[in-house]
Amino acid sequence: MTSDTGRTETTGIQITKSSDNQITMNQLITLGEFIIDRQAHFPYSTGELSSLLNSIRLAAKVVNHEVNKAGLVDIIGAAENENIQGEQQQKLDVFANKVFIQALINREIVCGIASEEEDSYINVVGKDKGNNNKYIVLMDPLDGSSNIDVNVSVGTIFSIYRRISPVGKPVTEDDFLQPGVNQIAAGYVIYGTSTMLVYTTGHGVNGFTLNPALGVFYLSHPDMFFPDKGKIYSINEGNYRHFPKGIKKYIKYCQEEEGDRPYTSRYIGSLVSDFHRNMIKGGVYLYPNSSRYPNGKLRLLYECNPIAFLAEQAGGKASNGKQRIMELKPEELHQRVPFYVGNKCMVEKIEKYIKKYDRERT
Ligand code: AHG
Ligand code: MN
Ligand code: MN
Repeated sequence: MTSDTGRTETTGIQITKSSDNQITMNQLITLGEFIIDRQAHFPYSTGELSSLLNSIRLAAKVVNHEVNKAGLVDIIGAAENENIQGEQQQKLDVFANKVFIQALINREIVCGIASEEEDSYINVVGKDKGNNNKYIVLMDPLDGSSNIDVNVSVGTIFSIYRRISPVGKPVTEDDFLQPGVNQIAAGYVIYGTSTMLVYTTGHGVNGFTLNPALGVFYLSHPDMFFPDKGKIYSINEGNYRHFPKGIKKYIKYCQEEEGDRPYTSRYIGSLVSDFHRNMIKGGVYLYPNSSRYPNGKLRLLYECNPIAFLAEQAGGKASNGKQRIMELKPEELHQRVPFYVGNKCMVEKIEKYIKKYDRERT
């Protein structure tokens, strides 16, 4: 069966898009139905991945409910602690972290979890005291938390791998330090004007919008793909003077009056929201290394790898300026890397600028 996107649908669910790229509302497909339908992509599937995705769906709804109450109940503002990376935790960081971990542990569907908000990875032991599951999850439970207090979109990012340690034994750090190319699934939840869950299992990217009255996610953005050309660049330009020369030159290139330039500058300060917009409208997100952040700010395992997987599945590209993000071999859990993600040709242009001015400092 061929959909009107021109690509072939391989499952039983049939999708018809209208001219504005949305599915028609009389074809409501729930996320739960979609997950089961797509299980067929994994010939020897035991349903474990489906249960895992369903747990994430549940946790997303709980966090959504809480985020929506921000301002009414005492959940905005800083918590008492800093995380291991020395960042001030917000109350919602702590809440979201707890909800996602609980949802995954209660259902006994993962053997290990690593989170941006945890010092180390969690070894999940089942009621029978075993570690009999095969998947591990890495996550940024609340992305863009500095936006919470001011009613701006935040998100959750997740990444799923198969363990490499033997089933039945405790997980090891090596299970979590796998390169991004080993990801089985990845996605994000965006708590925005509407709440969406967007994910991939390596067969394209699909987006689901929550109907808050029913508490059900419906397929609203099937087969998401970057437009051919991008005209948005997203970077915290306040750090301009600390950027490497190649990035300064690229910013000037974006601002030049020539051809389809100048590009538009848009920066929310929440990777999920900036990436989501750029994937739909076409654009590039940059978080370079700088004298302030010598290795960049974003975390390879919780932020860059999952977003890179989605970007590539949507026809885009993700790089550290020199190499493909998903081929980097992680060395530590909370490792940071420079990050450039978006339309393929825009990321390639950035790589060219970085290479050209690599040796020059300012
Ligand atoms: P987090 O809230 O999970 O710590 O992530 C914030 C990240 C990312 O989402 C965002 O794009 C970036 O930090 C913003 O950093 P600046 O404030 O330095 O621009
Ligand atoms: Mn983040
Ligand atoms: Mn976070």
